[in-house]
Amino acid sequence: MDFKTEMKERVSYIDEVIKRYLPKEEGFEKTLLSAMNYSILAGGKRIRPMLMLETYRLFGGEQVNEIAPFLAAMEMIHTYSLVHDDLPAMDDDDYRRGRLTTHKVYGEAMGILAGDALLNYSFEVAAQAFSGTMDISRVAKAFTVLTRKPGIGGMIGGQAVDVENCDRPMDKDKLDFIYLLKTGALIEGSMMIGAILAGAKDAKVEEIEEAGRKIGLAFQIQDDVLDVIGDEQVIGKPINSDEKNHKTTYVTLFGLEEAKKKVEILSLDALKVLEKFPKRNKFLEELVRYLIFRDK
Ligand code: IPE
Ligand code: IPE
Ligand code: MG
Ligand code: MG
Ligand code: MG
Repeated sequence: MDFKTEMKERVSYIDEVIKRYLPKEEGFEKTLLSAMNYSILAGGKRIRPMLMLETYRLFGGEQVNEIAPFLAAMEMIHTYSLVHDDLPAMDDDDYRRGRLTTHKVYGEAMGILAGDALLNYSFEVAAQAFSGTMDISRVAKAFTVLTRKPGIGGMIGGQAVDVENCDRPMDKDKLDFIYLLKTGALIEGSMMIGAILAGAKDAKVEEIEEAGRKIGLAFQIQDDVLDVIGDEQVIGKPINSDEKNHKTTYVTLFGLEEAKKKVEILSLDALKVLEKFPKRNKFLEELVRYLIFRDK
């Protein structure tokens, strides 16, 4: 099977897993539940659950179905981050994943609440793993990472520094801080959870965190590149959003070519970490290589 077909297969599996856990759109709070489902079912590349699943396999994990609550939960958290990122008070964008943004369809208040709901519900979903058949101490460790990486030392911390620094010049150190947190944290967390659930030792989980850091940083730099040269039809969101919001990015700091080069170098560094493990996962390695040149 070629890489693209394998990737499609993974996406359909992850989509099916996500659908298993989505709330039924009923009751007085039906609008909220519809807004949650609207944003998560719009599609998306499902990169974070995919990295989780493949890191789980890298460490010999075989109970794929048992990790399902974590796969769904991570995508819910990521989707919440996008719903809030697009709000008028944040990046103020009208399109996401090829559709109108959640607040454009459901209104701003419901956009805020749908984001909150996805975050809280993600923990409810992940907590279901405690009653599964997986080793409880592994579930507890994975759950801790799932609660920490979106938090103040992770995604939200990064988003806060990001919005605070629009319209201000910024150096590379601060920009790296933002990227490692706003985007790196969820990618690191996804890979760490995969490793933890497969029973990887702490030292290995730390190495995976390091690989995730590099992949996450590369992923955000490529996102900056696509904000400039991407095709809106393909990326499913507006281009020039960063320019509109006067953001400092890797492209404004280093130029397009240098930014692309950095994506490649960071990704190749991440591959070096992955290649050191005794067991290899060819699909995971191809995925990291594919992300260097992704067009969406
Ligand atoms: C977009 O993430 C936001 C960033 C952190 C760069 P993705 O590029 O993974 O978006 P989807 O999930 O495919 O829509
Ligand atoms: C967002 O970075 C990172 C998040 C935590 C959502 P961007 O603002 O560049 O992401 P896009 O380009 O809107 O997807
Ligand atoms: Mg943003
Ligand atoms: Mg944005
Ligand atoms: Mg962007």
